[in-house]
Amino acid sequence: MRLIGTGSAIPEKVVTNAMLSEFLDTSDEWIVPRTGIRSRHVITDENVEDLGARACLNALDMAGLKPEDIDYFICSNVVNEYITPSLSCIIAEKIGLACPCIDINCACPGFLYAMDIAETHFLAGKVKNVLIVSAEEPTRMTDWTDRSTCVLFGDGAGAAVFTEGNNLKGIRLHSQPDSSKIWQKRTLMPTPYITKPEESVPLQMRGKEVFKFAVGASTTEVEALLKEIGMSKSDVSYYMVHQANLRIIDAIKKYLEEPDEKFPVNIQDHGNSSSASCAILLDECNRKGMFKPGDILVFSAFGAGLLSAAAVLEW
Ligand code: UT7
Repeated sequence: MRLIGTGSAIPEKVVTNAMLSEFLDTSDEWIVPRTGIRSRHVITDENVEDLGARACLNALDMAGLKPEDIDYFICSNVVNEYITPSLSCIIAEKIGLACPCIDINCACPGFLYAMDIAETHFLAGKVKNVLIVSAEEPTRMTDWTDRSTCVLFGDGAGAAVFTEGNNLKGIRLHSQPDSSKIWQKRTLMPTPYITKPEESVPLQMRGKEVFKFAVGASTTEVEALLKEIGMSKSDVSYYMVHQANLRIIDAIKKYLEEPDEKFPVNIQDHGNSSSASCAILLDECNRKGMFKPGDILVFSAFGAGLLSAAAVLEW
């Protein structure tokens, strides 16, 4: 498949580290050196489905396609207000899609897992154009009195349109199932028969362990993927790494022995927007005109599951 359009949409409200320190025992001095985050966009009166719809329309516009040209629509999302219908159906209704719609919950690497599903449909000859959106509101998952999690996240949506082509050079998915490192639970409706204890728990994260998983999975997958497709690091133009923590990105950079210029970052303005992170970064870089035909983009993302993924896309 080949990428022909990108789009993104982010909430208006910008919350700086200084604003957080007004109600939390935290500071810019703690957050910046440990994470690289200076501010994040946070949902106020917006709905995540509207952000997703705007990102999709921007991507379709750039691709020069109409909603009826799309054969398959994949939405990556961890949580939203609807249990049913799926977020993909809600966004599809808003933008006038009439194709199969599917949601995936693969946490932060969701955009890459969606790319893998799309490529599989292209290879099966079932589709001509696929739209992917990652629409996330992780700020609604954390406990805003817990300084160890709520300072890390921001909301937003990123979208991409793929058409037939041979530009996805390779993709690798990896799992290390473990629900003790990042997890959140919510209770379902009560019934007269439920006897088990149930509770709603905001997002919990064992930060240091997730950090180690992220660096290990990313570097291992990127190196293995490049080897698998016969490319070397010198072929790579940019590493589009999930924006979870600048120190994670720095550690990956150091391990791969690659220069700063190959690692675009926007974490300072967005925080971690889960699966929307890579998609928003892609759109921002694209709209700045950073990529030229033939450039090799290596994507790498990791998160809850634990799941990780890497992909190589030729521009
Ligand atoms: O999307 C993928 C999922 N997530 C990630 O990839 C995140 C991976 N992990 C991380 O990014 C880092 O582990 C964190 C940024 C979450 C934490 O950094 P850390 O260097 O591992 O810090 P820590 O958890 O060891 O905390 C050190 C101290 C603790 O105080 P004590 O117990 O040493 O007295 C925390 O209570 O810093 C304290 N602390 C804070 N202080 C001020 C934790 N959060 C804050 C805060 N402000 N926001």
